[in-house]
Amino acid sequence: MPTDTVSSLIQSITSRLSAVGIEDAGIDARLLLRSAFGWTAADQLGQLLDPPPSDKLDHLESLVARRCTQEPLQYITGNTEFFRRNFHVDENVLIPRPETEQIVVQTLAFIRERKISNPRIADVCTGSGAIAVTLALEMPAAEVHGTDISAGALTIAQQNATDLSAELDLYEGDLLDPLSGEFDVIVSNPPYILSTALTSLQPEVDREPNLALDGGIDGLDVIRPLFAGIAERLKPTASAAYVEIDPPIADAVMQLALETFPHTGISLLADLAGLTRCIAIEHT
Ligand SMILES: C[S@@+](CC[C@H](N)C(=O)[O-])C[C@H]1O[C@@H](n2cnc3c(N)ncnc32)[C@H](O)[C@@H]1O
Repeated sequence: MPTDTVSSLIQSITSRLSAVGIEDAGIDARLLLRSAFGWTAADQLGQLLDPPPSDKLDHLESLVARRCTQEPLQYITGNTEFFRRNFHVDENVLIPRPETEQIVVQTLAFIRERKISNPRIADVCTGSGAIAVTLALEMPAAEVHGTDISAGALTIAQQNATDLSAELDLYEGDLLDPLSGEFDVIVSNPPYILSTALTSLQPEVDREPNLALDGGIDGLDVIRPLFAGIAERLKPTASAAYVEIDPPIADAVMQLALETFPHTGISLLADLAGLTRCIAIEHT
């Protein structure tokens, strides 16, 4: 790598990443450099014409080499942003997506509208804890519980809860099984990708845990028992469940919801890109 200035180093990394098909090569180059050097965006901007720190170039090279293998940028830098906060991530967890913030927004709106003062909330399939930690921080009076079947994911969720000073309880186990009692709100972003679609994912998504992605032949392997659990564990009035879904399975999820929750308000919600992304199940 040319190392005379930070600017030329960024250009050189950008070319290498572009050459292996990385879409936002320029952005990734800057973020990898900041991560390797421990710099903020302002540090980087202020030193564009300076020589880079020579003692950190080997570390930078190792990060660039990883990105060249299509490893997701967030696993390499070890963090991502969700609802304006920084979350730690590694290969044990799905990288939280911006569209999942909708579940947080819906939950906050529901609890405020219904004036539920100490809501009991379950985040099933919590992964990095992005949803559960955010809800606990946005609503300090809430009692938040998160579950995941992956011990590795729960380690990351606990780390995020500790680092962000969120108070919540995390449990290892299947769906709602580790939890007792009824809930005002149940949220979940379960694995929902059709098994047949798993082979054609972007290379980066392919590096995320299969357990976080694979929804089985019809995408409903986890959603089916999840809905059964929600039907049992949601309070009968003034309660809601918000479950993220994949647009191609929206009709099947709606059909399943109509069968499972016959006397409940059910609606499909679109994300900012206009794609059906969430099913809302609300008891008045
Ligand atoms: C799509 S990820 C969602 C992670 C996080 N909630 C988010 O939105 O970024 C799904 C998570 O469900 C977990 N999972 C898969 N099957 C499960 C089950 N039967 N019970 C509990 N968790 C499960 C996976 O380990 C993974 O962490």
